[in-house]
Amino acid sequence: MYALLKPILFKLSPEKAHDVMMNTLAMCSKNILFRKVLNHLYGSKVPELPTTVMGLNFKHPVGLAAGLDKDARAFQAFSAIGFSGVEMGTVTPLPQPGNPKPRMFRLEQDRAIINRMGFNSGGLQSFLLNFQPHSSRVKNPSIAGINIGKNKITLNEDANEDYLKALRSVYAKADYVTINISSPNTESLRELQGEEPLTQLLKALSEERDKLAIEQNIRKPIALKIAPDLSKEEIKVISDLVITYHFDALIATNTTITRPDSLQSHDKDEVGGLSGAVLKQTSTDVIAEFYTHLKGKVPIIGVGGIETADDAWQKMLAGADYVQIYSGLIYHGPEMIRDIVKGLQIKTKKYNSLAEALATERSNQT
Ligand SMILES: Cc1cc2nc3c(=O)[nH]c(=O)nc-3n(C[C@H](O)[C@H](O)[C@H](O)COP(=O)(O)O)c2cc1C
Repeated sequence: MYALLKPILFKLSPEKAHDVMMNTLAMCSKNILFRKVLNHLYGSKVPELPTTVMGLNFKHPVGLAAGLDKDARAFQAFSAIGFSGVEMGTVTPLPQPGNPKPRMFRLEQDRAIINRMGFNSGGLQSFLLNFQPHSSRVKNPSIAGINIGKNKITLNEDANEDYLKALRSVYAKADYVTINISSPNTESLRELQGEEPLTQLLKALSEERDKLAIEQNIRKPIALKIAPDLSKEEIKVISDLVITYHFDALIATNTTITRPDSLQSHDKDEVGGLSGAVLKQTSTDVIAEFYTHLKGKVPIIGVGGIETADDAWQKMLAGADYVQIYSGLIYHGPEMIRDIVKGLQIKTKKYNSLAEALATERSNQT
């Protein structure tokens, strides 16, 4: 089905194609009949491979990465096509337009994307109005993640307030919340990954989450999403901090500002974050480095260049318990969810669970 649609979509500019798809999925999200069609075409064909990460029960280990559904317009449609988790956002407290267009580039020969969107979103208020969670009657629902960021006009020294405000606003509606300090497209944002500001931010968020857990009588997991462009020392510092402040997961990785020599496509020198096939090895290496510090204490969600079950498996062997995709979906369509889960099922069939398979296979590697 996507094979028929893709040539038409790829004739449009990347952002136009994105808007057409998102408008269609937003419409499907609101209509039970369309959701049933999507589920019949895609979601119903994805097998189950249950896994528990951050204390949440996912029906299989493949989710949608943040950035596609920035305004929470299509949660139910993404769920119907088979993702076990849908991470919406990044949403900022106030609405903001993002960077001037063009700001999204398809590097077709490299099966990659460069984007410098700049956290364009309608802001928290409209996000929360848009978001339609599953009704309580849905069996085995997809997990809803909400990814939060700071506004462009907010100075880094005031960033904590933006994150705290966003955490408070989304806490009741999210199954988990991701703190995004790793987009390369908001000036100086990635400086928040430094030891001093990160300590202050994670401490403040952890205390706020504890307060919210008491007030709302439920402890929601929080995850930290990091960049791939980190040194070994920075990885060690971040690992210690997510352990100290009881974060529930680390999401590795966001897009990279580096440009591998192998890039072929015309737009390879556009400014922004690079994602897709060419990010795969870098992000797997970053996951492996984090795993040497986090082992068992904080789970890792692996993202970056995943196109096949083998790619997902490599990230899992490196230390990821769950994976997410974005660029692969644009190049290969929703059928890839089924193919990845089926492939993982085959790789793990001699074990009682995915967790058991990973524990054994990872220890066989060392
Ligand atoms: C157009 C575009 C927009 C993105 N926007 C966000 C975002 O708002 N927040 C975020 O955490 N990650 C964002 N990402 C990063 C993805 O979530 C993911 O981490 C990255 O693309 C690597 O995965 P992939 O190679 O499967 O695409 C964006 C990626 C793309 C391509």
